[in-house]
Amino acid sequence: MKALVLAGGSGTRLRPITHTSAKQLVPVANKPVLFYGLEAIAAAGIREVGIIVGDTHREIEAAVGDGSAFGLSVTYLRQDAPLGLAHAVLIAREYLGDDDFVMYLGDNFIVGGIEPLVRRFRADRPAAQIMLTRVGDPRQFGVAELDGTGRVVGLEEKPREPKSDLALVGVYLFTAAVHEAVAALKPSWRGELEITDAIQWLIDAGRRVESTVVSGYWKDTGNVADMLEVNRLLLETVEQRLDGEVDPGSEIIGRVVVEAGARVTGSRIVGPVVVGAGAQVRDSYVGPFTSIAEDCQVVDSEIEYSILLRRASIHGVRRIEASLIGHDVEVTPAPNTPRAHRLVLGDHSKVQISS
Ligand code: DAU
Repeated sequence: MKALVLAGGSGTRLRPITHTSAKQLVPVANKPVLFYGLEAIAAAGIREVGIIVGDTHREIEAAVGDGSAFGLSVTYLRQDAPLGLAHAVLIAREYLGDDDFVMYLGDNFIVGGIEPLVRRFRADRPAAQIMLTRVGDPRQFGVAELDGTGRVVGLEEKPREPKSDLALVGVYLFTAAVHEAVAALKPSWRGELEITDAIQWLIDAGRRVESTVVSGYWKDTGNVADMLEVNRLLLETVEQRLDGEVDPGSEIIGRVVVEAGARVTGSRIVGPVVVGAGAQVRDSYVGPFTSIAEDCQVVDSEIEYSILLRRASIHGVRRIEASLIGHDVEVTPAPNTPRAHRLVLGDHSKVQISS
């Protein structure tokens, strides 16, 4: 069995972070979201992984390498444009051969991994096995319609009028039967080859499509609110570990990780929090569910429920909450006179100012 991981696409909902970085590499609890997926695939006993890459291929390749760090053997498959999830299967046809495979969306986060799903699929081998979960706004997802006995009878991608609140989770298991379906597809109204249409094709052809409804299992990290929520979930699992320097003037409460090479002075940190290697927290308050990446600086500031990417610095600002701050960003107070905001923001930035 192989895995096909989708790490192409453009990540418009995470702009401006995705102007300069692949959305699958945005860190949660200081580790790229894609790495959790690769670890879950390895833990399910799969070794051969094809990764679909687009414009951000260099960055993904630099981060993942040949996959050996994860116990995987990785092959990169270049997709010229994000023409759809089923298009990714199409270009992976030769790589996949006639093997069964799990298709894993590189920006999805599956709590508890995929080992039970893969085990079930291996025992049962339907043409396709999908996971569904109830969501508040199904219009943003692929949506399934079930009959009275729980069988999937219809699937629709981003429907304007959803027939249920059951969204497709971004992990799918297929036998080679899916290739016939994919080869028969035409682009959808949004110009993409949709995997939901391929699964619908299998249903219409009388092939067996199994589904499980799961809860509390999954997050699509495509937007900032979900990213912060996954960060919270992961930080809930850390244990206190203070390998870096913490001076006696600081107070560390609860599950806080201070990595070797990080320095905390004159500060109060209330966990769960991670402070990456080389980061400095000085004369500051860091509140629960905050991930501070490597080489960041938080000085004379307050921050909570936020993610800071590499080398971001916050000086003299109180207080920052529910924020995703990109790498090398600087946040500082404006001079007192005149009282004005001074902003240098990248394209598609989003700022909420309290004044
Ligand atoms: O997250 C679950 C949802 O994922 C499902 O409910 C939908 O049925 C499914 O279509 C998908 O919807 P999204 O709009 O969230 O897909 P997105 O465009 O964000 O792409 C998902 C991942 O696949 C992402 O890591 C980028 C990558 N991708 C996407 C496309 C369209 C590719 O590698 N190539 C592509 O052509």
